Amino acid sequence: MKVPEITAPSTSKLYFLKEVYYGFRPNPPQFRPEHYPDLTGKTAIVTGCNTGIGKYVLELLYQKNCRIICVVRTQEKGEQAKNEIITANPDSNGAIDIVGGCDFLDFEKVVIAGKKISELLDQTSSGALNIVIHNAGLTWLVAPNSPKSSVQNYEAMYQTNVLGPQLLQHFIDPYLLKEDDISLKRLVWVSSAAHFFTPEPYGIYWDDPGFKNTPLEQRPKGMNLYGQSKTYNIYQAQAWYDIHKEQADKIGCVSTSCYPGNLSTDMSRAWWPPFVTAAKLVVWDGVYGAYSELYCALSSTLTSKDSGSYIVPFGEIHDPREDVKAALTNGISREVWKFCEEQISEYIP
Ligand SMILES: NC(=O)c1ccc[n+]([C@@H]2O[C@H](COP(=O)([O-])OP(=O)(O)OC[C@H]3O[C@@H](n4cnc5c(N)ncnc54)[C@H](OP(=O)(O)O)[C@@H]3O)[C@@H](O)[C@H]2O)c1
Repeated sequence: MKVPEITAPSTSKLYFLKEVYYGFRPNPPQFRPEHYPDLTGKTAIVTGCNTGIGKYVLELLYQKNCRIICVVRTQEKGEQAKNEIITANPDSNGAIDIVGGCDFLDFEKVVIAGKKISELLDQTSSGALNIVIHNAGLTWLVAPNSPKSSVQNYEAMYQTNVLGPQLLQHFIDPYLLKEDDISLKRLVWVSSAAHFFTPEPYGIYWDDPGFKNTPLEQRPKGMNLYGQSKTYNIYQAQAWYDIHKEQADKIGCVSTSCYPGNLSTDMSRAWWPPFVTAAKLVVWDGVYGAYSELYCALSSTLTSKDSGSYIVPFGEIHDPREDVKAALTNGISREVWKFCEEQISEYIP
């Protein structure tokens, strides 16, 4: 990709420090489970909900009688989470379907999962889909020994966090954008404050964002690669809305990005145990991340004019970094989306 010619605004260290501090000491959640509406008859898709934040999201939605289609990499892990949640919540009238095998590191597998989701929704009499949360995500911290590149040879976090979800969304769009149950239509792209740890301008490694042609030892640090992928998520929320604006406005669909918080989840599974214990003193329980994501998915204070917003813990709209904010309105988020479309074009249905 070419470096954009549009000059980016300068970034402020003070804003960076303020936002990083805020991530550790956010305002308490104002929109909590007791405020969530009853979700009987509503359907949600949540990715990566066998563990971490996604599993809390799954349980909170299920407690409100929602039907959730869980898109996971490993069927057995999904079934285990499903059984635990159903057993712990016997009074729910919700339902949980597991779509396993969706490994974002392989586009072929995303296509298979996308088709399974379509089949499941087609089997439902209304086929209405209300909520989509692209929660699954890979950080360099999770599994230091896991593959650094995808099956299609992209840098692993770029494909897992960006290209894979964008491809999956193509299978979901016909349902989310349908004018059926328009009392609730939400799309959430889970991002992070890690977007602050990216190069200027605009948080993208413009030469080769997917690092297809860059040897491992010449790639930037994991934190920066993760940050780039999470910058894309902010752009995806805006670009998806811009592209679908007419229909999204008609059905009141809100597309936001969400930084869920600094949280104790399975993300720390590969850390040195004493470090995990120490980290727990400054981070929040994983359920708080679910409060952030479910603010995006359920809060009635959000309307389609809030599409493109960057939601921070535990349910507030803030600005992303100055240049990233500018990219939401100066056409760059659309350019970046287009570039990703080119990477996945042969798999798009
Ligand atoms: N925890 C934090 O402090 C924090 C902060 C900012 C943003 N976030 C974001 O929040 C989201 C959830 O994170 P978490 O903390 O709940 O992490 P987590 O506990 O590590 O859970 C990550 C989920 O993503 C799935 N996943 C990872 N790689 C995948 C792949 N290649 N294909 C399909 N699924 C894959 C995992 O599946 P497996 O179980 O099969 O690996 C798991 O279900 C992520 O997008 C993350 O970037 C988290």
